[in-house]
Amino acid sequence: MSVVNSKEHHIPPFAQDKLGKLVIDENTLAQKIKDLGQEITQDYLGRKILLVGVLKGAAYFMSDISREIKLPLQMDYMAVSSYGTATKSSGVVRIVKDLDLDLSDKHVLIIEDIVDSGLTLSYLQKYLHAKHPLSVETCCLFLKTGNQKVDLDIKYIGFEIGQEFVVGYGLDYNEIYRNLNSLYQLNQDQM
Ligand code: IMP
Ligand code: MG
Repeated sequence: MSVVNSKEHHIPPFAQDKLGKLVIDENTLAQKIKDLGQEITQDYLGRKILLVGVLKGAAYFMSDISREIKLPLQMDYMAVSSYGTATKSSGVVRIVKDLDLDLSDKHVLIIEDIVDSGLTLSYLQKYLHAKHPLSVETCCLFLKTGNQKVDLDIKYIGFEIGQEFVVGYGLDYNEIYRNLNSLYQLNQDQM
């Protein structure tokens, strides 16, 4: 991990004194997403694939990885809100926006930004399985190593990261910082 250099990493002024360490820079993110897209393209060749993006955190990831999967595919979105504080989810999940498309003849691939306790993803996997698609798999960009409170089956994982709270590339703190190109820790005194 390197220290944030605001000139090199083009941190917009509003965020410059709010961020801690740079965790993953935008080029490393882009390369990993290319690799994941290639792997998914090979695995899903000849199958009807439906990407289910989890709003709002996975919005950029969904947008980028869908263009690295070189197959005909459908995209849909769910929004869930999990009761908890700004930095900890409680595991009690409420569906704010449900799917629009029918799943019955599809291979579903959940596109998720980050897995922390795993409670949100575990809920979503069960919810989608219950609609009886042909299969349900998960692709998450960031996994907080060792924080999971439930056993999870995640087929594609971008990066395993530490337990610190992170923002950028879709991830927020109180709805701010999603529009940063790279992933950063947040300064402790901001939380
Ligand atoms: P989980 O249910 O504990 O796995 O939490 C998953 C959700 O909490 C993610 O989809 C994010 O929306 C949010 N989350 C967890 N960790 C972070 C973080 O470090 N930064 C921003 N959001 C996070
Ligand atoms: Mg999320």
